Amino acid sequence: MIDPFTSSLERPLIAPSILAADFANLGDDCQVAMDSGADLLHVDIMDGHFVPNLSMGPAVCGACRKACPDTFLDVHLMVTDPQMFFKPFCDAGANAISFHIEMMESEQHARDLAAELRGMGVHPGIVINPPTDVEKILPVVDAFDLVLVMSVNPGFGGQAFIPEVLTKARAIKQLLKSTQRLEIDGGIAPQTAPLAIEAGIDMLVAGSSVFGKPRDQWATIMDTLRGPKSQN
Ligand code: DX5
Ligand code: ZN
Repeated sequence: MIDPFTSSLERPLIAPSILAADFANLGDDCQVAMDSGADLLHVDIMDGHFVPNLSMGPAVCGACRKACPDTFLDVHLMVTDPQMFFKPFCDAGANAISFHIEMMESEQHARDLAAELRGMGVHPGIVINPPTDVEKILPVVDAFDLVLVMSVNPGFGGQAFIPEVLTKARAIKQLLKSTQRLEIDGGIAPQTAPLAIEAGIDMLVAGSSVFGKPRDQWATIMDTLRGPKSQN
């Protein structure tokens, strides 16, 4: 299993979102994605309240864990009460759990939840939606291992990339240590990945641009998303 938070990251990490996978063959899709070069898997959890869609629960996360025992699982909670789901997803094998700043009552609330996840042995992540002002998240990013910038309004895969969020990504990047990851999520494809990487993103979620394509193209697509190896 890779350590996404290493300070010696050579190329951006690719995290295919299983929301776009074939649910009838989810275990195989997860294994083939990892065998095709994915660095970790992104698990999108939706409650039908915070976003207008329902996706999957801890049991599906556990099925991915069973299919891929050595894979880093990056769980994205698009839910109104994230704390309610910390233990179920920790028990289901999550390695990182990210929740939305929009559901936090205060900076301290976000910090308390981050500490609770660390106490469970899970890396905490904080997520910001496209319309949310970056000033809402900047004061708390130091408490998290992962900051996730949404480049679509959450709820569905296959949406168009919102380039304006890259301004927020640049502002957040300036505050991060080398062991913290800046992740982007939504509309990441060969055309948009270079823009995100240029803005300082080093972890790319890709749903439909990977799982929406034939399996024999996944390795090439993910290598394209990562961009050229750094020269140094
Ligand atoms: C949207 C999810 C994203 C989405 C990405 O609410 O959080 O992870 O699945 O899918 P694509 O890459 O197809 O935009
Ligand atoms: Zn997501």
